[in-house]
Formats: sequence, structure tokens, C-alpha cells
Amino acid sequence: MAKLCVIGTGYVGLVTGTCFADMGHRVTCLDINEERISMLKNGIMPIYEPGLKQIVDQNVEAGRLDFTTSYPEALKDSEFAFIAVGTPSNDDGEADMQYVKAASSSIAKNLDHPIIIVNKSTVPVGTGDWVAEIIHDLNGQVTPQFSVVSNPEFLREGSAVMDFMKPDRVVLGSTDSDAANRVAELYQALRSDIMITDLRTAEMIKYASNAYLAARISFINEIANICETLGADVREVARGMGMDKRIGPAFLDAGLGWGGSCFPKDVKALAHMAVTHDTHPQLLQAVMDINFNQRKHAVDKLEKALGDLKGKTIGVLGLSFKPNTDDTRYSPSLDIINMLVAKGATVQGYDPQAMKTSKEEVPELNLCQNPYDVAQDADALLLATEWNEFKSLDFDRIKANMRGNVVLDGRNIWNGEELQEMGFFYFGMGIPGSL
Ligand code: UDX
Ligand code: UDX
Repeated sequence: MAKLCVIGTGYVGLVTGTCFADMGHRVTCLDINEERISMLKNGIMPIYEPGLKQIVDQNVEAGRLDFTTSYPEALKDSEFAFIAVGTPSNDDGEADMQYVKAASSSIAKNLDHPIIIVNKSTVPVGTGDWVAEIIHDLNGQVTPQFSVVSNPEFLREGSAVMDFMKPDRVVLGSTDSDAANRVAELYQALRSDIMITDLRTAEMIKYASNAYLAARISFINEIANICETLGADVREVARGMGMDKRIGPAFLDAGLGWGGSCFPKDVKALAHMAVTHDTHPQLLQAVMDINFNQRKHAVDKLEKALGDLKGKTIGVLGLSFKPNTDDTRYSPSLDIINMLVAKGATVQGYDPQAMKTSKEEVPELNLCQNPYDVAQDADALLLATEWNEFKSLDFDRIKANMRGNVVLDGRNIWNGEELQEMGFFYFGMGIPGSL
């Protein structure tokens, strides 16, 4: 059992701290956002993550987990300080390190005992050394003994608790092998593979993993676009490909492409690192271009089906970037809605979790309370995020409510033949007849 603190209570930090507490460690989670901490102290979750509230409540109850905005309180008796603050993209794609710098400085200013600083935020290669420099500079030579360990996260939003508790691997990087081994002990109970390497390699494993997953998705989306012109079905193509053990079935779902807070910023940051170090990330640039074009492709399809979008009403099912999260960061759905509004369409939408942030991001969006209201008087219906509750709708009711009959299945989850028989003009992404 160890005493540790986690700086940042977002999708990464809150899950990390809570899961460590659930493993028996004593955890204090810190955030500079007072409202967020006060919500957590009152048992209110600042984010939607399936299963998280239950284990937060259990561990607060057990006295293993608490929340604060005070660095002295968080650092008191802590053997480890995990940094899990945001690393959003700058305009040129470079990771914005201001929050990591703020967290490192605050730790340095309040450090009065030896500690291991663990970087869980996704940070550009070489940052680990840089965190050490910040702490040295701030404290001069009197700094208490500290080491920096890189411990990148591989959590998927919507399954973050499971991904933490059942990781495919734990990656640790450090110049101090004793420190890395002590962090490895925190994860022992998970009985997963633990890889210990150097700082830069650990930081690169995170970027390379995310960039590869994003590339797989852009690859299958390019294949989907070619399938449409040749009359092949990309879902079957992906199924056939996935049977090859070298390829595997995961992350080959064609559709509107990827969004979220990780793939977009991590691929951009990796490409930026490449460019600033005199290499040319042609593939990464293509991966990003293909992904963004999927959003435009969806708008083009609706325009082909409806003609001029001005004055048309489009219903959109799903606003978050993926199911089982309230996160709308770089959501394909919201990008497409903005493009439709710019073309003079009226857009109405519904999402089980992401309504509030979506309205803030796209004020012109008219919010509905359920999928059937989204269909009301709509000329076309777009499935943008494949929430389970959209998978078996009453399409008789949908058809009765709609003004038009166009259905664009942005995530290929519905049965196109059935909908065509019902009189819908159905098309998907990479499915024959989808042009
Ligand atoms: C983000 C990125 O998505 C992920 O790729 C990276 O590995 C970690 O940072 P996430 O949890 O999604 O993860 O970040 P976010 O939801 O933005 O939460 C960050 C939290 O840190 C916020 O609650 C913010 O208030 C807090 N924070 C930020 C601090 O506590 N201190 C700071 O100095 C800055
Ligand atoms: C991702 C990585 O999976 C995770 O390891 C990392 O720590 C953070 O970034 P996340 O972004 O939360 O996780 O979700 P993920 O399930 O990976 O989906 C990312 C995006 O790709 C979503 O927009 C999703 O809709 C899209 N996607 C995913 C596809 O379009 N097709 C697929 O086959 C899989």
C-alpha cells in the first residue's frame, strides 16, 4: 500500500487516482478547478465515465480517496505524484505544455521530502528530462531527492476503468531504474505485462501507439471510399482482413472517422515533432487529411441526396465523439453540424450524455429530447455516434415523423436493405449504393 497524489482530475487523472485507491493505495486527487473539486467532494462526477461514480463513492467511503485544491495537502506523505493534466494542441499542432509546467512548478514549490514524479499526461518526447529541469531550477540545489518516471496512459474514454484495471501492458520510462521499479510495484496487483525502458522511448510508445490506431482507421476509411466506387462492402472487407492474425479485427470500423482529445492532438503533436526535427511525416499528414475529409464526405453525401441544403432540416443522432462518453472534443458530429449550418440547413440533434457541451459548442444546434423528436419534420437523418440506444429504433415511427426519407448511417450500424424496403433512401460509409 502506498500514499500517492494525482494532479488533474480529468478523464485520465480521476480514473487513475480512483483505480489506484481501489487497488488499496491511499490517494489524494488534486485539481486547480475549485468547482470540480467541490463537485467531487459532494459525490458529483465532473465527467461521464461508465462505472466511475460507484468506485469513487466506495473508495471515498473507505477513506482511501479524497480531493483537494491544495498542493501541500496533496503532497503530504506522498511517495508518488502523478501528473495527469491536459496537454492540448497549440495552433501549429505542438502540445501545449503550460499545464504540465504549472503542475511541475507547484510540486517543486511545495516539495519537502523525496518523491517520485510520474508523468501520465501525453507529453512530447523529451519532456521527462524537462520536468526534472523545472524542478531543479525552481528549488536550486536544495531540491529533495526526486526522480521522474514516464507512465503513459492507454485509457479509452467510455471504457477507461476497465482499460486501467485490465491493461494490455504498463509502460514505464526513467533514467532511474529504482524509481521505475517502485512505480512498477504500484501496478503489481494488476498482473499485466510491465515494460521498463528509458524516458524518451516510453513517451514515444504512447504517440506511436495512438498514431498507429488513427492510421488504421484512416486506412479503412480510404478503403471505404474506394469500395463505394467499386460496389464492394467495406464491412465485409474489414471482416475478411481481420481474420489475418497479423491484421486483427479491431479498429477497422469505417465511418465518420476519429475525434476525441487524444488521436487528434497526439497525431498532430507527433507530426510537429517530426517536422521540427527535420523529418517529413507524410503518412501522418495523410492520416489526418483522410480523417478530416470523412466529415466533408458526409456533408457531400447529404448534399447529393437533398440538393441545396439551404432551408433543409437535418436530424443528427449522437453528438459526442464516440459512444459512452460526454466528451465532444473534436467530435465528427459537431464538425459536420457546423458545416451543415454554414450551408443554411437547420440542424436538430440528440445525445444521451453530451447535450450541454454540444449546445455550448454549436449554439445554432436545436436540442431534442429523444431520437424520434430528432426525426420530426427532418428531410434527412444522420447517425453520427453509435450509442447503443440508436441501434434498434422504431423505424416506422421515425418514417412517420420525417418529412423526407434520406438516412445517412455514419457508423454503418443499421440494416440498409431493411430500411430501403421500408422506403428510406439509405446509405452508409463504404457500403454499395452509398454514393
Ligand atoms: C488529458 C489528455 O486528454 C490526455 O491525452 C493526457 O494524457 C492527459 O491530459 P484529460 O484527463 O482528458 O487528459 O484532461 P482534461 O479532461 O483536460 O483534465 C485535465 C484536468 O487537469 C482538468 O480538470 C484541469 O482543471 C486540471 N488541471 C489543469 C490542473 O489540475 N492543474 C493545471 O495546472 C492544469
Ligand atoms: C484512444 C486510444 O484508444 C487510447 O489507447 C488512448 O489512451 C486515448 O485515445 P479514445 O480516443 O478514448 O482512446 O477512444 P477510441 O475508442 O480509441 O476511439 C477513438 C476514435 O476513433 C473515436 O472517435 C472513434 O469513433 C473512432 N474509431 C474507433 C473509428 O472510427 N473506428 C474504429 O474502428 C475505432
